[in-house]
Amino acid sequence: MNHEPVLLKESIDFLITDKQGIYFDGTAGFGGHSEEILTRLNDKGKLIATDKDQSAFEYCREKFSGDRRFSVYHTGFTNIDSISKIEFIDQFDGILADLGVSSFQLDTVESGFTFREDAPLDLRMNKSEGLSASDLLNKFSQEEIAGILFELGEEKNSRSIAKKIAEFRLTEKFSRTSQLKKIIELVTPERFWNKTLSRVFQALRIYVNNELEELKIFIDKSVSLLKPGGKLVILSYHSLEDRIVKEKIKYESLSCVCPSGMPVCVCGKIPRMKLITRKPVTPDDAEVVKNRRSRSAKMRVAEKV
Ligand SMILES: C[S@@+](CC[C@H](N)C(=O)[O-])C[C@H]1O[C@@H](n2cnc3c(N)ncnc32)[C@H](O)[C@@H]1O
Repeated sequence: MNHEPVLLKESIDFLITDKQGIYFDGTAGFGGHSEEILTRLNDKGKLIATDKDQSAFEYCREKFSGDRRFSVYHTGFTNIDSISKIEFIDQFDGILADLGVSSFQLDTVESGFTFREDAPLDLRMNKSEGLSASDLLNKFSQEEIAGILFELGEEKNSRSIAKKIAEFRLTEKFSRTSQLKKIIELVTPERFWNKTLSRVFQALRIYVNNELEELKIFIDKSVSLLKPGGKLVILSYHSLEDRIVKEKIKYESLSCVCPSGMPVCVCGKIPRMKLITRKPVTPDDAEVVKNRRSRSAKMRVAEKV
């Protein structure tokens, strides 16, 4: 399987504080970060992992099948609380998420995450839950589609793309990536084709996987489930995700959220996290040269107080 783990040493150096601790990898993928965690733990340590993607789940289950310290679940990381109950775990020593999609998902045409080749227009990480991208394009109103492309893809041309989508589906149903690609090529100058396609596919992927809401839920639950001194390490790949991580951590680290101008604090807020990385950690030039997909990565780390 082809996936080069991003900021591998840096992320796991932050994450591991106790060699016999209990850790959670919410985005197991192809086991790059999980493998490094297991290497650093002793035989009393434990790693619980999740992935929404069936192939990633099966791959990790097989890859670590001889390791009793590892369990993986085919589910979203927002189920961290239910999984901790099933595993009889009260608190974790460290929690990791390496968001987005893996190179394997992007490179496997049948996964339908790439617009470079024709494939079913799906974009769900778990193909058995929720709406696919083609359902969305066939069912949502033109205004709703424009809103999704604008908000989740930051696509300025969202209205004209949505208009063409609405015209297209009067005669044909969406089912393939090539249909959407053709529409974008019709309304966009050629030099912007790739960037526009990336933004449109990103917007649809974020929407059908409910990525931003799930990230917020995951951070809230993780903060409650970390042991004091335990680290939350999150790698994100676009500004919408990074903003959520940054703002959530900032809120959790504040000792007062009273409106400005209040003479005394009345909110009673208690900080639950301490910011460890004031600025996000990014891959160095050598890593970007070796792995181009790492170029947009931003890692933020916080510690439970
Ligand atoms: C960038 S890859 C992770 C790669 C992994 N760290 C490695 O080194 O092999 C992201 C993975 O997260 C999974 N994923 C994305 N959102 C998820 C969620 N909400 N819950 C569980 N898995 C998710 C994707 O299916 C994908 O396999």
